[in-house]
Amino acid sequence: MIAITGASGQLGQALTECCTHHGMDFVGLSRADLDITDAAAVKNFFFKHPCDCIFNCAAYTQVDAAEDNPGEACLVNSFAPWNLARTSIPVIHISTDYVFDGSNSTPYTVENAPRPLSAYGLSKRMGETSLLEGAFRGVIVRTAWTYSARSGTKNFFHTMRKLFKERSSIGVVNDQFGTPTLAEDLAQALLDLYLMKQHLKPMHVLHYTNAGLATWFEFAQAIARLSNANCTVKPITTSEFPTKAHRPAYSVLSLQAIEELGIKPRSWLDALESIFKNKTAHV
Ligand SMILES: NC(=O)c1ccc[n+]([C@@H]2O[C@H](COP(=O)([O-])OP(=O)(O)OC[C@H]3O[C@@H](n4cnc5c(N)ncnc54)[C@H](OP(=O)(O)O)[C@@H]3O)[C@@H](O)[C@H]2O)c1
Repeated sequence: MIAITGASGQLGQALTECCTHHGMDFVGLSRADLDITDAAAVKNFFFKHPCDCIFNCAAYTQVDAAEDNPGEACLVNSFAPWNLARTSIPVIHISTDYVFDGSNSTPYTVENAPRPLSAYGLSKRMGETSLLEGAFRGVIVRTAWTYSARSGTKNFFHTMRKLFKERSSIGVVNDQFGTPTLAEDLAQALLDLYLMKQHLKPMHVLHYTNAGLATWFEFAQAIARLSNANCTVKPITTSEFPTKAHRPAYSVLSLQAIEELGIKPRSWLDALESIFKNKTAHV
């Protein structure tokens, strides 16, 4: 049996559905089922329910709020992954492009040195080191700009679609480069890694996003076009849209390592278009 923490979150829901679709034996755990920061609860749960892999989709994901709550972010994003891994069960853990500072102009490889700019990025990097330095088994999968059309999820896709209905024009940042990534594609890749037994290897890092790159403005424009939105999307700079947390100006992740394993992500635009073509996919 496999366990999915953070099962009611955006990625957790996608992975739960993916596991159901593939007939996997799994247990989905929301925060109410298992608070991963609770050491005694984690130990007790996995003693009673032996699993052969934990997919850790739980995280503190509020990038700006983490600036005011670094302790809570670190508890969930760095102590808790270590807490899961010390059960001795292999962990497939999710991390982020925000561990990088954005000074690269070519995609970040798994060998590039992280240098987080934000409290959130730091907390996620600390989670990575807690796993990498603990002699555990598993994989840290860094991803980026994740979204889903699934109702009840919170992400840029839904924010834009709401704003398109409320406003005749909006400004969207056009000087941050990354890769929009469909949560359902990421979920399938995580399951593929498990099925190829990647989680049994010593803890290591891989990157998974959809392929290509875009700015937030380009991503918003594509969502507007596909939604037939009656709203003008205008490019603005990061300085015109100040946020509490610093975000990397360039956080495109190299997919070379995961592609060498045979996992070939489709382009971000193909993934986005697919949710409009396939109306069953939650649009
Ligand atoms: N979203 C992105 O753009 C993005 C980009 C790069 C990397 N990532 C990474 O991708 C992973 C999945 O993110 P997501 O987008 O699915 O985020 P999400 O929708 O915010 O889901 C996170 C889930 O974690 C749960 N959680 C928080 N604290 C917990 C705790 N102490 N114990 C158990 N569960 C807890 C949350 O429960 P509550 O709802 O009850 O708080 C929520 O269901 C995270 O590791 C994130 O850092 C996300």
